[in-house]
Amino acid sequence: MTEIIFEFLNKIGFTHPVHPALTHVPMGLVMGAVVFRLASFLPRLKVLARTGYHCVILALLGVAPTVFTGYLDWQYRYGGVWEFLIVLKMVLAAVLTIVLLVVAIKDDPENRKLDRYTGFYLLLVLIAIALGFSGGELQYG
Ligand code: HEM
Repeated sequence: MTEIIFEFLNKIGFTHPVHPALTHVPMGLVMGAVVFRLASFLPRLKVLARTGYHCVILALLGVAPTVFTGYLDWQYRYGGVWEFLIVLKMVLAAVLTIVLLVVAIKDDPENRKLDRYTGFYLLLVLIAIALGFSGGELQYG
């Protein structure tokens, strides 16, 4: 299946890795989520907690295609060879998904507090940074 997808992409002139085009979706939305969450504690900006929460929902929707294209690039460009950075990325992607799900299900943005859920927003950024760093290490060494 990987071959078919990349042969098709090559035919239409797309010869780049596909994963980097999608990584911006969860990465950017997670960054947005934490910025809006923190900004919601400023006077008269409480409404931004809802914006941050909506970023979490969109990030969650972006995870599956991002992981799928990561898998495709790994198979096609790295020969599917198991190495530390790939395992790390798989673990981090799983943790990211779980934390996003917990926030999506449990957080109440209408009643945001400096509680564990706000802590989870900060944790999401740390996971996203680790995913980007390990991805950059794979790509650029
Ligand atoms: C939500 C989950 C993930 C995020 C946010 C993410 C993010 C990133 C980022 C920011 C890069 C650097 C891209 C660039 O050079 O511009 C990258 C590279 C890479 N990632 Fe991920 N990644 C995720 C999951 C995965 C998974 C699960 C795999 C493997 C199964 C994977 C495999 C790769 C590979 C092989 C590269 C090197 C560039 C390429 O050939 O695509 N990623 N990732």
